[in-house]
Amino acid sequence: MSTEEEDGGTPAAETVRVWDPLVRLFHWSLVVAFTVAYLSSEEESALHVYSGYVVLGLIVVRLIWGVVGSRHARFRDFVRPPGEVFAYLRGLASGQPRHYLGHNPAGGWMVIALLVSLFVVTLSGVVLDFAEGGGAMAAAGSGVAVIATARADEGEYGEYGEGGERGEGGEEFWEEVHEASANVTLFLVFLHIAGVIVSSLLHRENLVRAMVTGRKPRA
Ligand code: HEM
Ligand code: HEM
Repeated sequence: MSTEEEDGGTPAAETVRVWDPLVRLFHWSLVVAFTVAYLSSEEESALHVYSGYVVLGLIVVRLIWGVVGSRHARFRDFVRPPGEVFAYLRGLASGQPRHYLGHNPAGGWMVIALLVSLFVVTLSGVVLDFAEGGGAMAAAGSGVAVIATARADEGEYGEYGEGGERGEGGEEFWEEVHEASANVTLFLVFLHIAGVIVSSLLHRENLVRAMVTGRKPRA
């Protein structure tokens, strides 16, 4: 099995293993958790906070895996210098992009952009949650969250602004950061999906299937 991870492994095999199970589980769990967090963001629900924490946990695991994980999961494998990114994009524009087994150089930077913006969204969400008096741990079942929410509804934590006690300036700031970074992330997700479609067409390979099965046709 171990030779499957090498580009020049056994010639008889028609496919090669690219994405390890952790990367695949990470990706599709992220898609679900992000979607739930985004769709539940309108009202301040426990679902939003929980799904947001799942996203945060996934990001942390992926950051660690980017250092110690399998070959194509490592940042070292797919974070390329700008020259290589431009060379790849030029190839893309001429319809003959160089083929990479792992993330291509443009896709690699998109992965970094997604991880960074998801990190900003989730951390600002945590700050906001605590600023509003909920706090994830409180939401975890002690009932404190219910009280905090009730207080917030009464305006104690600043819904009604002006003379409030709890430094709404800071809270508003984090609310802005949270909302703006959520929208930036959504924009990046659209670019990401567009990039996956374009690369799949130009390379004539199904990248989505590869993220499900972990395998790509041997080039
Ligand atoms: C249904 C929609 C989606 C599809 C079809 C999709 C597809 C893919 C594919 C095919 C890859 C591998 C790209 C490659 O071969 O280089 C990938 C990677 C990635 N996608 Fe998505 N994606 C989707 C939604 C999302 C969303 C919503 C997020 C984040 C909120 C996301 C974040 C990522 C990240 C971080 C990676 C890098 C994976 C890793 O190396 O661990 N994707 N995606
Ligand atoms: C990928 C993860 C997340 C996304 C996409 C996301 C997105 C959003 C969006 C779009 C809003 C609405 C902002 C507004 O209209 O004011 C919101 C509100 C909120 N989010 Fe998140 N969020 C995420 C993670 C989290 C996390 C991890 C927490 C806390 C632990 C959190 C806590 C909150 C709170 C407390 C609000 C209500 C803010 C308010 O209007 O008072 N979010 N989120």
